[in-house]
Amino acid sequence: MVFNEEVVTQAVVEGIRSVEAAKSTDELHQLRTRYAGAQSELTRVSKIIGSLPSDRKKAIGQLVGKLRADFGRAYGAKEAELSALEEQRRLESEAVDVTLPVDRHPLGARHPISALMEEIQDFFISRGWQISDGPEVESEWYDFDALNFGPDHPARQMQDTFYVKGDKAKDGAGFSGSNMVMRTQTSSDQVRGLIDKGVPLYMACTGRVFRTDELDATHTPVFHQCEALAVDKHLTMADLKGTLNALAVAMFGPDAKTRLRPSYFPFTEPSAEMDLWFPAKKGGAGWIEWGGCGMVHPNVIRSAGLDPDVYTGFAFGVGVERALLLRYGINDMHDLVEGDIRFSKQFAMGE
Ligand code: DAH
Repeated sequence: MVFNEEVVTQAVVEGIRSVEAAKSTDELHQLRTRYAGAQSELTRVSKIIGSLPSDRKKAIGQLVGKLRADFGRAYGAKEAELSALEEQRRLESEAVDVTLPVDRHPLGARHPISALMEEIQDFFISRGWQISDGPEVESEWYDFDALNFGPDHPARQMQDTFYVKGDKAKDGAGFSGSNMVMRTQTSSDQVRGLIDKGVPLYMACTGRVFRTDELDATHTPVFHQCEALAVDKHLTMADLKGTLNALAVAMFGPDAKTRLRPSYFPFTEPSAEMDLWFPAKKGGAGWIEWGGCGMVHPNVIRSAGLDPDVYTGFAFGVGVERALLLRYGINDMHDLVEGDIRFSKQFAMGE
């Protein structure tokens, strides 16, 4: 058996020096394995003490014991020092400065419907139109009668319209005693606007409307419309078409345009469905239904107490949700009604 007191003493002295110079407890653990672990010189010597001649056993045994104790002391002292230091560093890095200013009131995000309605309003304001936002609980007279809906028109039926129980309209020319409804269309503001504001009138009404639909991917019982109404002398369908095209360009870019298809609405004559040429349509540019329009029916002009031989007008109504779904390729109405701020934040419109 090779045994040399010098070698083992030297190894342990070197070990103690390394321990004293260690910079971290991790390094310290490696040094313990190296200088006092199973493969170390110290352990190798400890194992052969038993086989030494008895006159040397005691001296070597004492030497090995002392070396192990010296190493252990140095190790213990360094470990205490380093772990105290590391603990201190950890506490410092985790420290919270309670005096730093915090954002206690995160701003949230505007709902894209609100932002888009404002954008539409800006379009009209820039052309000198007035913006109005009539009542959401409206008399049936304004929502239907004044707009030339006959008493038996199917849109009045319970399956479309929310009636407000018990309430009756209290004042006004033709509508006193009329039932109250949640307005089914912003067209309800047409005759109200004509009576309140007079002619000539260029007015856009943006707001919430209500129908008894179930919420699903394409329907919602509460949605938004923008109604435009112009009543003046000498207005023609060319004015209607020009305004629609300008709105399409403002909303959907320079290549957008509109086309009219003959249709029927009680409050316009002639009436048309309005399609939008949507350049960014998924799968290629194409026509998409966007709303209804027409020349204001003489009976509507009469409801407002005006002479239809003197005053003519045009009107159109577009869906705000529809514009938003098209513009951003959103395909589920739930995203629009749930109010999740992570959804709204993606748009950051109008900020
Ligand atoms: N109020 C209609 C609706 O909700 C839309 C509409 C059609 C408005 C024709 C108009 C119009 O002003 O002229 O379906």
